[in-house]
Amino acid sequence: MQSPITPISAELRRLFASSTRVLVLTGAGVSAESGVPTFRGGGNSSVWKGIPVEEIASADTLQRDLPAVWEWFDYRREVLRTLKPNPAHQELARWQDRFAELTVVTQNVDRLHQKAGSRDVIELHGNIWRARCINCRTCRDIAPHEGRPQACRRCGESMRPDVVLFGETLPPGEFERATRRASRCELCFVVGTSSLVYPAASLPEIAKAVGAYVCEVNPERTPLSDRCDEVLTGKAGEILPLFGT
Ligand code: APR
Repeated sequence: MQSPITPISAELRRLFASSTRVLVLTGAGVSAESGVPTFRGGGNSSVWKGIPVEEIASADTLQRDLPAVWEWFDYRREVLRTLKPNPAHQELARWQDRFAELTVVTQNVDRLHQKAGSRDVIELHGNIWRARCINCRTCRDIAPHEGRPQACRRCGESMRPDVVLFGETLPPGEFERATRRASRCELCFVVGTSSLVYPAASLPEIAKAVGAYVCEVNPERTPLSDRCDEVLTGKAGEILPLFGT
C-alpha cells in the first residue's frame, strides 16, 4: 500500500504565496517518474555490467579507457532518448511565471527540465546531450539519434561526454552561480536527491544559513531531512503539482 502524502503546512503555503526568490535543487528522483533510473534510493546503488557507476563514470576510467566511459553514456542516452518530462518538471516550469526569481539547480544531465519549459536552469553536472573536446574544450550537441562524436572538428582530438565524472570538479562558474542564488533565496526546495553528493548537497545548507525556509520532497529520508524546516514525504510528481492547486 502507498503511504499517504504529507500535507503542505500553512507556513509553507504562506511562504510560497509571498516569496520572490526561490531556489529548487533537483536530483535523479525528479526524473524517476519519467522512467529515468535513480543512482541510489530504495536500498539500491547503481551498477552497470557489474561495475559500480562511481567507477565507470570516473575521471580515472576516462584516463584509462575513454571508450568504456562512452559506452556507459551511449547506453544512458539510449535510455533517455524517448523519455518525457513528468508532472514534477512541468510544475517547476510553471513556477517561473509565479516568482520574480526561480532558479532550478539540477544535478541531472537529462535536459528534462528544459524540455518541460524551464529556462533558468543551472546544470551542475553537465549534460548528456553534449560532448566536449578533451583538448580545446570545444563543445557540440549530440542529436537524439546520433552516435557518439568521433573527433573534435576544431583540433582533431577525442571528444568526451560533457558530464562531470566522479573525481572531477564542477563546470567553471556554475556552482558559483548556484551559490549566489542559494545565498539570496527565501524559499528552497530540495527535490529527489539523496543529498549525498557534494558540493551540490551544500546548497540547501547555504540557503538555510541565510534564513531561507528549506523543504525537502522525497519518498525517503536523507541526511538533509533532519535539518530541513519541512519534509514532504512522497513522489515529486504527486507533491509538486499540489502547490499549483
Ligand atoms: N520523487 C522524488 N524523489 C524520488 C523519487 C520520486 N518519484 N523516486 C526516488 N526519489 C529519491 C530517492 O529516494 C533518492 O533519495 O531520489 C533520490 C535519488 O538519489 P540519487 O540516485 O543519489 O540521485 P542524486 O542525489 O541526484 O545523485 C547525485 O550522484 O552519481 C551521481 O552524478 C550523479 O548527479 C548524480 C549525483
